[in-house]
Amino acid sequence: MTQIAKDILYIGVDDTSLDLFESQYVVPEGMAYNSYLIMDERVAIMDTSDRKKGEEWLHKLEVALEGRKPDYLVVHHMEPDHSSHIAAVVEKYPHIQVVGSAMALKFLGQFAPGLKFNARPVKEGDILELGQHSLSFFAAPMVHWPEVMVSLDTATGVLFSADAFGKFGALSKCGFFGEEDKDWACEGRRYYFNICGKYGPQVSALLKKIPLDQVKTIAPLHGPILRKDIGYYLNLYSTWSSYGVESEGVFVAYASIHGGTEAVALKFADMLKAKGCPKVVVTDLCRSDRAEAVEDAFRYGKLVVAACSYDAGLFTPAHDFLHSLQAKGYQKRSVALIENGSWAPSAGRVMKDMFGAMKDITLVGDLVTIRSRMKEEDIPALEALADAILS
Ligand code: FEO
Repeated sequence: MTQIAKDILYIGVDDTSLDLFESQYVVPEGMAYNSYLIMDERVAIMDTSDRKKGEEWLHKLEVALEGRKPDYLVVHHMEPDHSSHIAAVVEKYPHIQVVGSAMALKFLGQFAPGLKFNARPVKEGDILELGQHSLSFFAAPMVHWPEVMVSLDTATGVLFSADAFGKFGALSKCGFFGEEDKDWACEGRRYYFNICGKYGPQVSALLKKIPLDQVKTIAPLHGPILRKDIGYYLNLYSTWSSYGVESEGVFVAYASIHGGTEAVALKFADMLKAKGCPKVVVTDLCRSDRAEAVEDAFRYGKLVVAACSYDAGLFTPAHDFLHSLQAKGYQKRSVALIENGSWAPSAGRVMKDMFGAMKDITLVGDLVTIRSRMKEEDIPALEALADAILS
């Protein structure tokens, strides 16, 4: 059983056979459901795990308890990937107090109807004394559900951050501690923008009210435990939650049916590079992971979308991508558009409408319309658009 700080044990579990997290995100390296145990004068379990991993999690809990009876089950977040074994714990230890926000305790009644439990509601500013350790609670609404709370152990500086600072990937694959993870930001960013991207203001508000100078370790509900270079992770979260630009460059996303639009997108990317753009990233929206495309759109300050017309509208993979951006709160970016249409181009109109509904999106240059295949006569308009997105 790994100790992450004095008296604090890791009792979480990996799922390396999971196909889709939240039934929608690919997780090639699996997923970790983190859970912790504080063994003080009073014993506190910090969240449970996903339903698939009940037997393993309950066994780890029992071993870690070494015969002691837990006093508290702290529920930071009621989403079932963390709360699926609350009923089993309550049934085994009927005296235990379930600690959570009033809304979390209400949700528990919804997820486990009929469960009788000793509720101990907490709100922001409340402190749970365990003996040497004391947990100070902060409300974290919409990070990532409305009932979320995080807690800071003032004795060790461990921040139990719920979904915040999580990432995709099982700990056995990506490393137990952040410093063992070769590229935390890659899957940390894909996780953040797809799980919490819409809630930047709420994440920013949370970062402002936690005494960050006291945080020595971040113990999230997913991904490695972060205990070195805490400032690195805090800076990334500050940039991400304020929709700032993390990397200079242009992200070119295309959706092509028969290769014509792809050829334009690749030509456009070459133009950007020839004009000195420091980084050009290209993705095929028909074949790439959409969650990764969303991540890259947020990472870079500039976006180009090249898409076909389809059914008098926008080709579905591009439409789905723009819809995801809209849903995740995409904002504060410059965007250039290229459409293709053989008889009645319609992609540009739909893209303009969709970006127009997003916040602080600047459409730069003139929409370039390609008729079936790019021709020599299209080059000046593409050059002008490249200049516009780079200006
Ligand atoms: Fe990992 Fe929002 O649950």
